[in-house]
Amino acid sequence: MGKDVIIACDFSSKDETLRFLDRFTGRKPFVKIGMELFYSAGPEIVREIKKRGHRIFLDLKLHDIPNTVKKAMAALSSLDVDICNLHAAGGSAMMKAAAEGLTRADGTRPLLIAVTQLTSIDQLTLENELLIREPLDEVVMEYAQNAASSGLDGVVCSPLEARKVHDSCGAGFLTVTPGIRFADGSSDDQKRIMTPSQAKEEGCDYIVVGRAITAAADPAAAYERCCSEFIDAED
Ligand code: C5P
Repeated sequence: MGKDVIIACDFSSKDETLRFLDRFTGRKPFVKIGMELFYSAGPEIVREIKKRGHRIFLDLKLHDIPNTVKKAMAALSSLDVDICNLHAAGGSAMMKAAAEGLTRADGTRPLLIAVTQLTSIDQLTLENELLIREPLDEVVMEYAQNAASSGLDGVVCSPLEARKVHDSCGAGFLTVTPGIRFADGSSDDQKRIMTPSQAKEEGCDYIVVGRAITAAADPAAAYERCCSEFIDAED
């Protein structure tokens, strides 16, 4: 898979999500389904969106003992999603078990990426609550390397970290980056943001875009703008 724009469908109901997707009459967007939608609409929403021809990043961030994660991943793999994720904090045994669980009988599997540290965790929380004394950016890179050596395909990270992740884990290790805004748009609650063209320059592989598209007056036009900046523009 090459570079792509993934729309974060942060809606709470199936109807709202499908109505939103009905607006895209040109290229079929890659869609991110998170916990809110999956837990309220269930696996059926994944089947329905797949049936409509979209690719799906199922953002459920699994974190449990290896055997449980392996079995949960096998269930998700049967939904035929394209990207799944988990917390690298679950350790390398859990990450390897997850990849095994995702692998289908024919040896293929969805891409599997890791969350290193949540962006809601700052240095103080890391030290005082998680009792991790190292600098946050070093912890992020260490976790990314653990994910790579456990056979995962990439990480979710800030576009500002993408270059460093590629340098330390290899150019083929995927960086999937939220925190994307248009130059003339609002930053909402995101603190470290980049435009789609800056993300392209930084070498991000996939950008995850929510409100810049979902809250736009014309979401299909905002999506096309993202694609033309991130995918279609000349290097
Ligand atoms: O609306 P916005 O573009 O900020 O949405 C970004 C999406 O990416 C949301 O679904 C959010 O939960 C997700 N995300 C994030 N930052 C992370 C990980 C995921 O914004 N570190």
